[in-house]
Amino acid sequence: MAVDFGTYNTVAALSDGERVLLFDGMPLLSSAVYADRSGALVAGRDAAHLARLDPAGFEPNPKRRIDDTSVLLGGREYPVVEVVAAVLGRVADEARRVVGRVPETVLTYPAAWGRRRQGLLVAAARRAGLPVAGVVSEPVAAAYRFAALEGVAAGRTLVVFDFGAGTLDVAAVRAADGGYQVVAYDGVEDLGGLDIDEAVVRHVGRTVAERAPAAWARLTAPGTAEEFRARRLLWDDARAAKEMLSRTSLAPLPVPGYEPGVHLTRDELNDLCRPLLDRAMRTLHGVLAAARVAPPDLAGIVLVGGSSRLPLVADRILRELGVAATVTDQPEVVVAHGALTAHPLPLPA
Ligand SMILES: Nc1ncnc2c1ncn2[C@@H]1O[C@H](COP(=O)(O)OP(=O)(O)OP(=O)(O)O)[C@@H](O)[C@H]1O
Ligand SMILES: [Mg+2]
Repeated sequence: MAVDFGTYNTVAALSDGERVLLFDGMPLLSSAVYADRSGALVAGRDAAHLARLDPAGFEPNPKRRIDDTSVLLGGREYPVVEVVAAVLGRVADEARRVVGRVPETVLTYPAAWGRRRQGLLVAAARRAGLPVAGVVSEPVAAAYRFAALEGVAAGRTLVVFDFGAGTLDVAAVRAADGGYQVVAYDGVEDLGGLDIDEAVVRHVGRTVAERAPAAWARLTAPGTAEEFRARRLLWDDARAAKEMLSRTSLAPLPVPGYEPGVHLTRDELNDLCRPLLDRAMRTLHGVLAAARVAPPDLAGIVLVGGSSRLPLVADRILRELGVAATVTDQPEVVVAHGALTAHPLPLPA
């Protein structure tokens, strides 16, 4: 089994065939965690639901907390390793249910993560009962998947553009000795779907703060549980509207306390994304330069991660580099699938 622990989603691919584990019927397990009043940790979609009543116990993106020693949930401190283990524990439980045992597991990690962060991930997996066989970096895993589907000749270079929820990771990966090696890498730690959501919320604020200042003040600085709940709803709806705009040109966005709500157009979203994509494209150009490879010589550019579903991403790459990027049906699961066939690295000490 291979497990891609993401900022927003965790994906587990099974070694037999093309299967991924389903969680409540879905291929993506929400990485969110909630601490209930008894101190027990609940991970997955239920965490967000439970947090509606008690937002103080909620951590939507534990991966972003990887450098903290502990996380404060519902007035109690939890070691980060325990919070991550709660998410991976869902994977172990589901594997046990479906396969009958917990299979040997390869874990993926962002290319920017050093030994310490990798070690923490491995410790969390072991705590969750996953027998860890090795680790592999996310872009290398994605390269294996791409190679399995399209084939990459030895010596050729491929670029993986992983635009997820928390970070952007761009890696140039070269095929050599039957494996893949990262030859150039750059990442932006604070550039992902969550940052687009934030830009959408700020955009909504420009309208609502003027028309309903009291409602907007409650949403930006919530005090009561109900106000926290309202803020979370707004963020969830901002994300949903953003995702809908990959498919349509207009999306409604309800705003708690502001009855008319607002509408967002795809052009408005594109304007909001532009400065973020400018940074992403600078990163991509930098990686190509560091890898000393010209766009026409690439074996391909693979788009990975849910945020690469934004049509603007492939459009910009085509316009600036003249390369039609490879888009897969489910960019969220590419890393987990690829990790199954990757040569895993030995475990960090
Ligand atoms: N249709 C869509 N349009 C735009 N963004 C989308 C779409 N579908 C999903 N996303 C975004 O993709 C992100 C989730 O992608 P993914 O599961 O690849 O991230 P992750 O692996 O959890 O994060 P990371 O790799 O940064 O740790 C979310 O921010 C989500 O809003
Ligand atoms: Mg990811």
